Amino acid sequence: MSPLSRRSFLGATLAAGVAAGLAASGCSTGAPPVRPRPAARPLAIPPLAPSSVDAGGRRVFGLTAAPGTSAFLDGLATPTWGYGGMPFGGPTLRARRGEEVVVRVTNRLPETTTTHWHGMTLPARMDGGPHQPIAPGETWEASWRVEQPAATLWYHPHPHGATERHVHRGLSGLFLVDDDVPVDLPDRYGVDDVPVVLTDRGLAPDGAFDEQHRNAVGLLGDTVLANGTVAPYLDVRTSRVRLRVLNASPARSYRLSVGAPVSLVGVDGGLLPAPRVVDDVLLTPGERAEIVVECAPGRRMVLRSLPDDLGAVNGVAAAAGGADSLDLLELRPADRLEASPPVPAVLSREAPLTEGSTVRRFVLANNRINGLAMDPTRVDEVVPVGATETWEFTNRHTLPHNIHVHDARLQVLDVPAAARAWKDTVAVAPGTTVRALVRVGPYADPEVPYMLHCHLLRHEDDGMMLQFLVVGPGQRPATTIAAGHDHG
Ligand code: C2O
Ligand code: CU
Ligand code: CU
Repeated sequence: MSPLSRRSFLGATLAAGVAAGLAASGCSTGAPPVRPRPAARPLAIPPLAPSSVDAGGRRVFGLTAAPGTSAFLDGLATPTWGYGGMPFGGPTLRARRGEEVVVRVTNRLPETTTTHWHGMTLPARMDGGPHQPIAPGETWEASWRVEQPAATLWYHPHPHGATERHVHRGLSGLFLVDDDVPVDLPDRYGVDDVPVVLTDRGLAPDGAFDEQHRNAVGLLGDTVLANGTVAPYLDVRTSRVRLRVLNASPARSYRLSVGAPVSLVGVDGGLLPAPRVVDDVLLTPGERAEIVVECAPGRRMVLRSLPDDLGAVNGVAAAAGGADSLDLLELRPADRLEASPPVPAVLSREAPLTEGSTVRRFVLANNRINGLAMDPTRVDEVVPVGATETWEFTNRHTLPHNIHVHDARLQVLDVPAAARAWKDTVAVAPGTTVRALVRVGPYADPEVPYMLHCHLLRHEDDGMMLQFLVVGPGQRPATTIAAGHDHG
C-alpha cells in the first residue's frame, strides 16, 4: 500500500478555486497524509456496561463522562474524555427488545454535555440532544422501552456547537439492541461478534489530539483508531467473524474492504432481510455496517478503507480523506478454526416501508438546510406521530454531506429492492438527491423536538441542523422551543 504517493498526487491537483473555497474556513485544504503502521496491538474490546434490574423490572445502567489520560502510542500520554471509567470511548450498553432501560448519566467533565442515543426510537425528552443538557456534577436520567429490532446503535454527546469537540475528545460508545427473534449469526461478543468503532485523530508530538487543523469537511486525523487501538489486530478462532463497524469519526468516511467479498448482514437500523454479498461498504460519519467475513485457517486479512471520491470533484474528495488508503484492522485467523454456521438466508422478516404520505424537501448547501441555520428555539417541521413520509435530501454543495434523522428509521428509495435497509444516517453526495421513506416513532411531544442534521460534526456545529416536533392527534405543536431548557 502506498497511501502517501497517492495522496500527494491528488494533493498536487487541488483545483485552485476549490482550494480557495476550502481555505475559506481559515484552515488547511487537504487531509493530512496518513501514516501507515503495521498491525502491532491486540484490538481492545469495549467492556459490556454492567447493569442491574430494579424492582420494576427495568434494566438500569450508570454512565459517567469524565476526563482521563490515554496511551495510544508507547510513551505518549493523550488527555482524553471517556465514559464509564474508560479514558477514551465507552462501554457497550446492551438491552433486549421489549426491555425498559434506565441510563443515569453523570457529568464529571468541566463543561455541560449531553448524551444522545443515536438510532434509538424513544421519547424526545429522552433523546439526549441539545435540549437535554447535563451540567457539570449533575446526573441526567433517561428511560424508555426498547421497542425496535436488533441493531447496532451508539451514544455520544450532542451539545449544540460543541458536539465535534466532545466526540473528538473520545466520548462515544455502542448500544446494542438484541431481538427476541433469534438469528443464527455469530453472537459471542468480542469473540466472533466483534465491535469495531472507527475514529481518526491527529496526534501532536506531545501526544495531545489536534483539534485545530480542520478543513471545510472537518477534523481529519492521520492516525486511525479502532476501539481506541492504533494499528490493531484481532485473533480469530472461528471460520466466520461478524464485525459491527461504526464510523464514529467527526468527518472521515471509510470504504470498507477485506480484499474479498463479505456478507453485509446489517446496517444502521438493523438486519437486512437477506444477506448481500458485497466487495466493499461505504460508511460516512455516524453510519454502521455489520459484515460477516469468511476466514481461512492461518491466512491473515486486512480490513482496509479504500479511496472513494464521495461523489466530490477536484480537491474536495482528497480534502475529505477520499484519496487515502487506510489499514483499519488485521484479522489473524488461527491455524485451526472452529466451524461457524453458514450465514442464514433470511435475517429479518420485518415488513419494508412501502409508501410515504407527506413529501418534505431538504436542500443541503453552504452548511445550511433549506437556507436555515440551526435555531434551538425554532420549530422547523411538525410530523404526525407514527407517520411514514417521503423526505428528499438534495445536496447543492461541492462538499459531501450526510443526513441523520433522530428517532426515525428510514429506507432509501430508488435503490434495488435487495439493497433496501433500515437506516438513520444516509450519505448525500454533491449534486445528488436521496429520497427516503421516513417512519417516525410512536412518541408524541408537542414541546420537545428531535433533530435532523448533517453528521459531519463540524457542519452540525456550524448549524447544519433543523428541529422537528412529532405530535399526536389534537395536540397543538409549540410555536417556539424553550432553548437549552432541561426538559428531562
Ligand atoms: Cu449521532 Cu444527532 O446524532
Ligand atoms: Cu441521532
Ligand atoms: Cu455536512
